[in-house]
Amino acid sequence: MDRTRLKEQAEVIRQAFGYINRFKNEIFVIKIDSALSASSLFPVLVKDLVLLRRMGIKIVLVPGARARINEVLSAYNIECSFSNGVRVSSQDAIPFIQMAAFDVSNRIMTMLAENEAGAIIGNWVKARGIGVRDGLDFQNSGVVENLHTDILNKVLDEGIIPIFPNIGWSAKGKPYNLSSNDLAFTISVQMKAAKLFFMTETGGVKAEGFTVPDGVYVSEDGTVSQLNVSQAGQFLDLNREEGWNAERSMIAYAYRACKRGVPRVHIIDGSAEGMILQEIFSSRGFGTMVYANQHENIRPMTAADIPGVLSLMQPKIEEGALVARTAGELTENLDDYAVYEVDGTLHACGALHVFPDKQGEIAAIVVDKAYASRGIGKKMIYYLIEQATKTGLKSVFVLTTQTSDWFQQLGFIESNVNELPEQKREKYNKCRNSLILKYPISSHRIAGELQVE
Ligand SMILES: CC(C)(COP(=O)(O)OP(=O)(O)OC[C@H]1O[C@@H](n2cnc3c(N)ncnc32)[C@H](O)[C@@H]1OP(=O)(O)O)[C@@H](O)C(=O)NCCC(=O)NCCS
Repeated sequence: MDRTRLKEQAEVIRQAFGYINRFKNEIFVIKIDSALSASSLFPVLVKDLVLLRRMGIKIVLVPGARARINEVLSAYNIECSFSNGVRVSSQDAIPFIQMAAFDVSNRIMTMLAENEAGAIIGNWVKARGIGVRDGLDFQNSGVVENLHTDILNKVLDEGIIPIFPNIGWSAKGKPYNLSSNDLAFTISVQMKAAKLFFMTETGGVKAEGFTVPDGVYVSEDGTVSQLNVSQAGQFLDLNREEGWNAERSMIAYAYRACKRGVPRVHIIDGSAEGMILQEIFSSRGFGTMVYANQHENIRPMTAADIPGVLSLMQPKIEEGALVARTAGELTENLDDYAVYEVDGTLHACGALHVFPDKQGEIAAIVVDKAYASRGIGKKMIYYLIEQATKTGLKSVFVLTTQTSDWFQQLGFIESNVNELPEQKREKYNKCRNSLILKYPISSHRIAGELQVE
């Protein structure tokens, strides 16, 4: 083989190994458009999904069933109307819709079995009816209310692929027809997925027919290549015309998913061979990617945030993990604080107090318990370290009684009272006996870790 080609292939393999390592044990939620199952390449796509699972990526599948539902309903002469892309699912239609949805999932399960991959279909989705909107009763069409994430996590830990038909049940067991895009979006948020894929028949979002925000790259074939969250928001604002549009709707889901902690959403062509592998294991992207900035949702605190921050802190103060602060102290140090906010609600806070000897203290780190273990705490620390770097500090330190392991995992090392800035040394509370950890800015490994793909 010619050496240049060999070198190129080796480079592809190296890249792939890097990504495998990075995504091992991460959750990918994959919505597959219903039209794709008719493609001759569909079995190849299923094989690729099995490969991902074997590499240690936790796969969740959400097959769309619209085409199959249409087929079944027309076979039984049942007509349904649509409003804004949502089917009005009548009492007559729902048993057939359910049958079609499970049929699609069963077909995928069979194909997975052919590839010796374990899969399971379950009733893990709690739903409620859409109800009456603008005078129109959506009858048995519903929205996702909740998921049984604990069971799902167990299933995924066992190496089994969960498949979600687009059906959810009320607390009393009434079935509802759900949008599979909405379902995939909710699963990705609630399961803290690393990626959400919309695999379509047409690939990424084409710029034609839309107003694309300035600065957004459109590839040669006219696909909107990448949007960060704020660009995705602008895209939605610029294209608010009447009527439902499938591509705009996917961008809206992608935008909301990134806002709620999913780092990347990919809209890709599921009918092109190997597309999902290319998207994951190489630095080239083919469809449309919407991605969250590393400091998404973090911003400086304002005076209006103070009551919210105090109530975030309260439970941690009661647990003894945090020193109490007053509204006056927060007002005095307003500029030091940052908050993590999603849709107007604060979920985390933190502060960086700067000392004259170019040291900074990271303090008041709190994450709302309901939002724990989503990487928010880590994001907040990285944000504050970036602020410290920008301010020209040489190191940051933290005093902690209960969280030293966590800080050490983030790269903090043990320090002692003599290394503290003079003002802090004088005030050091021997009774509280906090551990002192520091993070030298010169060894700023975190910046590298935070690079966008
Ligand atoms: C510590 C804290 C900020 C972490 O927030 P978070 O957003 O859940 O953190 P991340 O998602 O980045 O990290 C979560 C991981 O850290 C671990 N962790 C949380 N608190 C920990 C602690 N006190 N010691 C060791 N590990 C801890 C979690 O178990 C989780 O592990 P996993 O990923 O294996 O499940 C949050 O638990 C908190 O508010 N604690 C109370 C206040 C506090 O101690 N503040 C620090 C003093 S300044």
